[in-house]
Amino acid sequence: MDTPDVLAWRDGHIEALDQTALPHEVRTLRLDTVDELIAAITSLAIRGAPVLGAAGALGVALAVRQGQRDGWDSRRLTAEIDRIAAARPTAVNLAREVNAMRPVLADGPDAVETAARAALGTAERVSRQISVRGAIYLKDAVNKKRLRVHTHCNTGSLACLGWGTALGVIRALHAEDALDYVIVDETRPLLQGARLTCWELAQLGIDHQLAGDSAAPFLISQGAADAVVVGADRIAANYDVANKIGTYSLALAAHRAGIPFVVAAPESTIDPDTPSGSGIPIERRPDEEITVPAAPTGTRAVNYAFDITPADLVTAVVTEERVVEPQTFVR
Ligand code: MRU
Repeated sequence: MDTPDVLAWRDGHIEALDQTALPHEVRTLRLDTVDELIAAITSLAIRGAPVLGAAGALGVALAVRQGQRDGWDSRRLTAEIDRIAAARPTAVNLAREVNAMRPVLADGPDAVETAARAALGTAERVSRQISVRGAIYLKDAVNKKRLRVHTHCNTGSLACLGWGTALGVIRALHAEDALDYVIVDETRPLLQGARLTCWELAQLGIDHQLAGDSAAPFLISQGAADAVVVGADRIAANYDVANKIGTYSLALAAHRAGIPFVVAAPESTIDPDTPSGSGIPIERRPDEEITVPAAPTGTRAVNYAFDITPADLVTAVVTEERVVEPQTFVR
């Protein structure tokens, strides 16, 4: 299938693949305003930490355009840019990329657009580098010709552009004929694994099986995987990792089974200003994502979108620049 761009800047507006519609419908959103962009981000039409970062950069260009049209003063423009940065709190990439654009504002709209488009290219290049480095690390860590990998959520081109992070590593293993198969968690409640990762893997011709989230620790205990590889939304300075809810249980299971738990993420996901996971804001999402359709009307829910995996359960963090093994630190 010929898939449209995940995210693009088109003559003054943003185009984004609507990830809420996948896999059954491939549809593109046209975003002309800050409100429309924020709605796309909060609904998860645009999602995944690196893509959120790129969308933040494009969002600044979009706000400048809208400000010119609607006659915003600089205070209003700043307020709108602040709103974009805060649209989702956990993935540090969003606020970071928005903030990186702020100094460019003084150079005028053309410079802002150029810088925003450059962010797209950077995300793509970085994800390829992480993929290759991660595959080398895993082949070394697991003494097998072909690896069986367990993954969570969606970390492919839909989340990152290019190859992806965790899914990029899987893709790089596959390209080298070093992959046996992938187990994909469904990733409740919004099913990024079932809807998006299975869709990407099928398109790539990579053998995979879907598992219920609650089955994952059991499967790992039964030796179904040689390694767990996931992405990250924010990595604290001590290498505690925030990622999609359900990640922590995989880390516990991997630890117990004695297999590597590897986090693949860009350097831009590491947040040196947050000392540990307890300082990472965890997004809480609407009750209805959990209660509908099964729970009795009026049931209240606890719907954290992410969890924190403590650094001592992380075998390695692989970025485009380096491999960090947090357990080797004296902490
Ligand atoms: O809520 P989402 O779909 O934006 O969550 C995405 C994840 O948790 C991914 O694992 C994470 O962003 C890493 S993507 C490389």
